[in-house]
Amino acid sequence: MSQDRWSEVDRYISDVVVPSDLALDATLEASTAAGLPAINVAPNQGKLLALLVQMCSARTVLEIGTLGGYSAIWMAGVLPADGRLVTLEADPTYAEVARDNVARAGLGDVVDVRVGPALATLPQLVAEGAGPFDVVFIDADKAANADYFSWALRLTRRGSVIVVDNVVRGGAVVDAASPDPGVQGTRRLYELLGREPRVRATVIQTVGSKGYDGFALAEKDLELRGPGELLGTRQTGIVGFRVADLARDADLLPQVQELGDRLLQQSPDIAERIVSRWVGAALRYASA
Ligand SMILES: C[S@@+](CC[C@H](N)C(=O)[O-])C[C@H]1O[C@@H](n2cnc3c(N)ncnc32)[C@H](O)[C@@H]1O
Repeated sequence: MSQDRWSEVDRYISDVVVPSDLALDATLEASTAAGLPAINVAPNQGKLLALLVQMCSARTVLEIGTLGGYSAIWMAGVLPADGRLVTLEADPTYAEVARDNVARAGLGDVVDVRVGPALATLPQLVAEGAGPFDVVFIDADKAANADYFSWALRLTRRGSVIVVDNVVRGGAVVDAASPDPGVQGTRRLYELLGREPRVRATVIQTVGSKGYDGFALAEKDLELRGPGELLGTRQTGIVGFRVADLARDADLLPQVQELGDRLLQQSPDIAERIVSRWVGAALRYASA
């Protein structure tokens, strides 16, 4: 199989299943004319993002990595009337092109393009009390993928969905000795996905007009998973997750203990051993 074949199939998919849209086509044309690199998602990937936004009944979306606004327009275009998408872009020239594209698409009131390095903007969003976002799409500099994912966890709620693009990198992600910061950053993301108790995640390899790559998909979940152990079910997880969430911050350990005690008193319907297991697990995570 070759790149030509993958691109041909992507064209076929787009022709038959993902019909072109004037605003999206104009976005790509204006971005090319402005000299932006063609590193936007493919049309069928843009539609996948839009479908995810719709399937989650999302009202709020956070995107890290705007470029010319192509993926932002896909997602913002399916938000409800009161929906909002915040997208972060380091390059002021790209951000200006994106703002023009967003305005042309009639989404100027929905999309907020924030300029600056995302690792500076994300703490600002937390300080502003932004979020929780229902969907987060991470598609910026890959070296910071794990950091972006950690910030995304702070800006989401239970049930939020986080998507990270370009996580296979032509297969280079398996090269532990790679000198590529993007590969190393993405490997750190995999490790985080594997050990983070608050998410359920997978990674899917893809081929297409954008080459051989893949995306990670995670749901911020109720379940608290320990190394080699599954503690509780979705039902009992409501209690356990809240305890675990608090315990991520070591300063909150006394409150965690108190919460556990209170739960034992207030929820006689919840078996004592379950609550104490959750609290114990939460404390182990906090001190790990
Ligand atoms: C792959 S492109 C985004 C494509 C876009 N999501 C789309 O599909 O239309 C990555 C973007 O991230 C931006 N970027 C790179 N490093 C960044 C950083 N530290 N903070 C914010 N944006 C950054 C780049 O300037 C570029 O526009």
